[in-house]
Amino acid sequence: MSEKTGSDTPYTALGFYHKISQLRADTWNALKRDLGKLLLLSDAGQRRHLVKAVDVKLTRLEIIEDYHAFPSKEDFRHLWTLYDREEFALLEKVVKRLVRALISESYRRRHVDLSETDADAEDLETMDALAQLRRGHPASNSSSQPYFELLIVDAMSLQEEEVVREAFHNLRRPEDKFVYDVVTVRSFEDALIAILVNPNIQACLIRYEFPYKSKYNLSALRNYLEGLSEVELEKKSEAERSILLSSMIHEIRPEIDQFLVTSGDVESTASSDIRHFNRIFYRETDYIEQHHTILRAIDSRYRTPFFDALREYSKKPTGVFHAMPISRGKSVTRSHWAGQMIDFYGINIFLAETSATSGGLDSLLQPYGPIKKAQEYAARAFGARQSFFVTNGTSTANKIVVQALVKPRDIVLVDRDCHKSHHYGMVLAGAHVSYLDSYPLNDYSMYGAVPLKEIKKTLLTFKRNGQLDKVKMLLLTNCTFDGVVYNVRRVMEECLAIKPDLVFLWDEAWFAFATFNPTYRPRTAMHAARTLLERYRSEAYREEYAAWKAEFDQLDPDDDATWLEQRLLPDPEVVRVRAYATHSTHKTLTSLRQGSMIHVYDQDFRQKVEAPFHEAYMTHTSTSPNYQIVASLDVGRMQAEMEGFELVHSQVEAALSLREQLYTNPLLQKYFQVLKNSDLVPAEYRQSGVETYYDPVSGWNKMEEAWAQDEFVVDPTRVTIAIGRTGIDGDAFKNEYLMNKFGIQINKTSRNTVLFMTNIGTSRGAIGYLLDVLIKLAKGFDRRWEESSRPERKIIDYQVKSLTQELPPLPDFSRFHDTFRPNPGTPEGDIRRAYFLSYDDENTEYLRFDNGALQRQMNHGRDVVSASFVIPYPPGFPVLVPGQVVSEEILHFLQALDVTEIHGYRPELGLIVFTEAALDATADGAD
Ligand SMILES: Cc1ncc(COP(=O)(O)O)c(C=O)c1O
Repeated sequence: MSEKTGSDTPYTALGFYHKISQLRADTWNALKRDLGKLLLLSDAGQRRHLVKAVDVKLTRLEIIEDYHAFPSKEDFRHLWTLYDREEFALLEKVVKRLVRALISESYRRRHVDLSETDADAEDLETMDALAQLRRGHPASNSSSQPYFELLIVDAMSLQEEEVVREAFHNLRRPEDKFVYDVVTVRSFEDALIAILVNPNIQACLIRYEFPYKSKYNLSALRNYLEGLSEVELEKKSEAERSILLSSMIHEIRPEIDQFLVTSGDVESTASSDIRHFNRIFYRETDYIEQHHTILRAIDSRYRTPFFDALREYSKKPTGVFHAMPISRGKSVTRSHWAGQMIDFYGINIFLAETSATSGGLDSLLQPYGPIKKAQEYAARAFGARQSFFVTNGTSTANKIVVQALVKPRDIVLVDRDCHKSHHYGMVLAGAHVSYLDSYPLNDYSMYGAVPLKEIKKTLLTFKRNGQLDKVKMLLLTNCTFDGVVYNVRRVMEECLAIKPDLVFLWDEAWFAFATFNPTYRPRTAMHAARTLLERYRSEAYREEYAAWKAEFDQLDPDDDATWLEQRLLPDPEVVRVRAYATHSTHKTLTSLRQGSMIHVYDQDFRQKVEAPFHEAYMTHTSTSPNYQIVASLDVGRMQAEMEGFELVHSQVEAALSLREQLYTNPLLQKYFQVLKNSDLVPAEYRQSGVETYYDPVSGWNKMEEAWAQDEFVVDPTRVTIAIGRTGIDGDAFKNEYLMNKFGIQINKTSRNTVLFMTNIGTSRGAIGYLLDVLIKLAKGFDRRWEESSRPERKIIDYQVKSLTQELPPLPDFSRFHDTFRPNPGTPEGDIRRAYFLSYDDENTEYLRFDNGALQRQMNHGRDVVSASFVIPYPPGFPVLVPGQVVSEEILHFLQALDVTEIHGYRPELGLIVFTEAALDATADGAD
């Protein structure tokens, strides 16, 4: 895709890591092409040039393949031997076979012997490749033994390495559930590189003495190795170094099963921090024992308890004297009219449809069997203490969490542009809502996210007014629809310094995938909560806090600046870590629609929340939850634990390729502007100073830096493109251009932007197609201009100007009307009271703003108060909520909106607002 890939342009460190699988595939293909050309050349100069190019590519590939089991080191020696002997015809043959084996992934199913280049061996690869092409994707190995690679870290000689590899190979049995090959590395750094660049690695065996330094100088590890001194590391004992390595592997890829082989000093090893090792083997433990232990560990991730139970159940003959005529397909198989359902879906889905909760199945409402297990596995995968499946989407998950934690009149701080399920959740719970404003991105008619200062300021207002004890929860969306990501740890830490038992609900509807990538993971709620809890329990933190507190106490606590300008730390004696996350698993991982999860990391869950949580779950969950959704959540979790790292990595790779083209192709740049970090995050929130992750010279080097430091970062897999320069608005571009002409579906638009979301299913081919379409569109816009008359050009200019310069500023939340404000000094409002007040017709009236009626009332000094939610699409968040005073800015925004869909607003009638009499009566307490 990129012009760089496949050429000789060197990849820089992180660029190398971010694009490793594309680089690997492209370099092998380029090598194959070079060798093909070389065979046809007779000119000596040209041949020399190509031979050099082959050398460069082989050298680059040797580095990459050093961290993969196939091709093996022996295979590589064979390639170099052929190269040195100038047997280019044979080399080309071997490389061709190798490329076919990599594409078809046949090495996962059988041993590929590259020294055999006979026709039979070639046929096998070709047939494999064709079979995979017919299935439309590379081998998934679903019917045979899944394949993985075992990483061994040990300073072995080449011969020893061969012996160990051979020993593990010899243990393979046809009845084993999995098959694996061995990758060996000789140093600490190499182990980390291997797990970063080779997603096939699922288990790691850390053996005897190994040095620290890699023979390669790949600074890809810079972020992970920060603070580790080589000299110090070399001084560490064997056990200490192994333990440090295991904790770093765990931080980068927590799913990898780790085993330690130790040579002595057993007791001291066993008493140190060995929690990341599944098991410790002693030197004399035999390979058979290791082999079975490794297979068992992999199996515990691979198991899908509920999906398995459902499949078992579907095979059992049962008589149905219960609800659900469709169960076992009975009502459709014998139907004269509805048999098409079977034709379309196949029989299995009906065999798996049942309302039974016994006979091997389980009850989602009161799980005791396979659903319980499946949820426990989900908690492990997402780093939660408890996880719960939800079969009605995150819309429901959000309401469950809010109801479980919030009592009527508890104060909740909510970001105003959050999903509507939260606003309705607040109504149901009877919460007093204090809305927080996100920073606006007026140029693109979008909101960013809520700055930490704004949150701290609001908490301080409650503190100063003696209301802090009523503040229960902070609710934020991470990441936002447009991909703005919070610094979750920092937000929690500073808020806990003001209110040490604050509960956090992070709506991660769009962020379930983030757990499976080491750059993203620290910005998830579960990871941040675990890290904070460990931090607050440590002696080092107590010391840090004491020193900080001594300095803080010198400052004036009555001055807001003291709190707003300092980085705050919570008191370890009183702080409680209480975090909840809701995931639309179906949005970013494998799950049927509506499959969501709630993840909990709350120190007080068992004591304070378990019972109300159960009641809240009962309130919102159907008594007939869809088993297919539950099973798909179970499979989705398993897949994420087995290959989430690989899938998310390639999603990022695909998105980076798309961005790279959009940043560099002049035709595309003419009409489409990809929004970079600096477009979506103002400079004051980018402490790293990084404006874009991409640099045309050094590639994708900046992402980790920004993600480690900045208050907000942008998720590069969500690509927002400003299209104002096309003169077409977001909605028309989405429907008339992308969908109707090219069948490209997108979700979100603003007035002048469209959002292209990649996901774990996005292929390189799909990115290629999208780029083709954008190029065709850009050429079309060029043509439109060339062929337009003068007046037509004027119209285009006008449209471009309107979309790029005349954007209505986004309004802030105005305020709740005093009638709905329990405390004059603080901003929270009783949204529930306002919501239900509108149920009585007499309390409301309609006022139009297009004929000036509403404005006249405002000019006469009336507080005009909305009686409903008013939600324009786009942007899709309420500009008015029940009980909110209509402000000039909101009116101006509504007037300037050129969207057709505004929920809660009927143009022929106007806005529904409370009558003054209703407000007066309510203020007197007569609601
Ligand atoms: C931030 C956010 N939260 C929650 C939801 C609701 O999720 P679901 O569709 O799973 O009900 C959405 C849906 O788009 C969302 O964007």
